[in-house]
Amino acid sequence: MRARVVAREVLDDLAQDDPHAIQSRRDLQRVHWAMGTRAILLRGLQGMSELPQTGKRMRILELGAGDGSLMLGVARALAPTWAPVDLTLLDTQSLITQETVANYSDVGWTATACVRDAFDWAAGPGGANRHGSPTTHWDLIVANLFLHHFEGAELAGLLRAIADRSDRFLACEPHRAWLSLLGSHLIGALGSNAVTREDAVISVHAGFSGGELSALWPDVGDKWAVTEYAAGLFSHCFRAELIQAD
Ligand SMILES: C[S@@+](CC[C@H](N)C(=O)[O-])C[C@H]1O[C@@H](n2cnc3c(N)ncnc32)[C@H](O)[C@@H]1O
Repeated sequence: MRARVVAREVLDDLAQDDPHAIQSRRDLQRVHWAMGTRAILLRGLQGMSELPQTGKRMRILELGAGDGSLMLGVARALAPTWAPVDLTLLDTQSLITQETVANYSDVGWTATACVRDAFDWAAGPGGANRHGSPTTHWDLIVANLFLHHFEGAELAGLLRAIADRSDRFLACEPHRAWLSLLGSHLIGALGSNAVTREDAVISVHAGFSGGELSALWPDVGDKWAVTEYAAGLFSHCFRAELIQAD
């Protein structure tokens, strides 16, 4: 397929309480089912080396977390074998309900909503010193269907901020490939509304392929081990793990 085309998605311009936006966010849960996103994330996370299995609590940040429901499925699967987790769910919109927080609590994870723009987060304190304040360092950062919103210096700067303040990173994004494009045109079969149908196609054109994210990640091979791979039928994953502490 041709080079990435990043365009603003319809959902990004709808008010949080717009009925079409609410329906589109519900659609996303069915889209994840069709894409096998939860299993893809689980495989990506379980393939990471040296994640603390027991003992000290892990600090995890999800960027562009939406309503937190995807990560909740991941938490339910991982909680029995992982160390307890303090999870921060960052999104520009306030979509995390008390019920969702309670559901995380049921599996032993604390979930905290952070309503903030990821670029404000990236520009904030903590980027320069990985071993600085504990409030600015993460054992793991996760992004799902989020990075494809961005390109150029903006995307590179965001990845730099993630690398500066975490030990591990996993992203799962649309795979920019013909099969994904076909799938995005057929998404109406899941009962998706017009917003979801349009955004699905936009997302595939803005998706990733090959080693596009690795090329933007800083210090590959020196400080970081990275892998980038197609996953399932429609997804493209990038995983980075710190191999050398400062
Ligand atoms: C396609 S949704 C994915 C939600 C969730 N990660 C999932 O996979 O179900 C993208 C999310 O990114 C959020 N988002 C977009 N731009 C953002 C930004 N600059 N900072 C933080 N969140 C942002 C949107 O509000 C939206 O909830």
